[in-house]
Amino acid sequence: MFITFEGGEGSGKTSLIKAVSKWLFDNNLPNITTREPGGSEIAEKIRDILLDVDNENIAFETEALLFAAARTQHLKEVVLPALAENQVVLCDRYLDSSLAYQGYARKLGFEAVLKINYFALKHLPNFTVYIDIDPKVGLKRAGSRGKLNRLDLEELSFHQKVREGYLELSKIYQDRYLIIDGNCSLNNLIEKTINELAKVIL
Ligand code: TYD
Repeated sequence: MFITFEGGEGSGKTSLIKAVSKWLFDNNLPNITTREPGGSEIAEKIRDILLDVDNENIAFETEALLFAAARTQHLKEVVLPALAENQVVLCDRYLDSSLAYQGYARKLGFEAVLKINYFALKHLPNFTVYIDIDPKVGLKRAGSRGKLNRLDLEELSFHQKVREGYLELSKIYQDRYLIIDGNCSLNNLIEKTINELAKVIL
């Protein structure tokens, strides 16, 4: 089973994934946690280029291609081998991030992004946990964590577009989307997510 976690900045994904991983182990379900962009040595190198605040001139198309390249490498090196061993894969961001950020907020369009993600498209997640949160709240949380990356530094209107993009995607991919309201404490977020996941995977 392949489960991805999506949401804007400061949505609590990272802490949530740790808790879900522990819950799966407690239920005797071996799992790995990983992230995008990155998750393997080569993909992490691509991540460095993508998130470097000095790369402000990177073209939107190049950005989308690099996210797709990092994704393909990570898929082949980490995700597919783990799935082949029957491990549950919990991935912090995947294809939907490219659709929401590059396709919708950068306006490249879903179709163009799907085309350049041809390899990932063959391996869609079974479930996508989308944490919906007001970007104003999320950015405040992310800012208090310290260092901001190139995409965090985009204007509020960009992050609002990202949220709209995710809400569009949740309609298109209704069957795999679990929408969780993220305007709550971390404990509450964990509890709600585990309750929803329990219904579909236990
Ligand atoms: P990261 O620090 O991992 O963000 P977060 O903690 O919010 O998950 O940075 C990844 C950034 O890259 C984040 O702003 C989302 C963005 N991104 C895309 O724009 N497209 C993509 O395909 C992916 C995977 C991430």
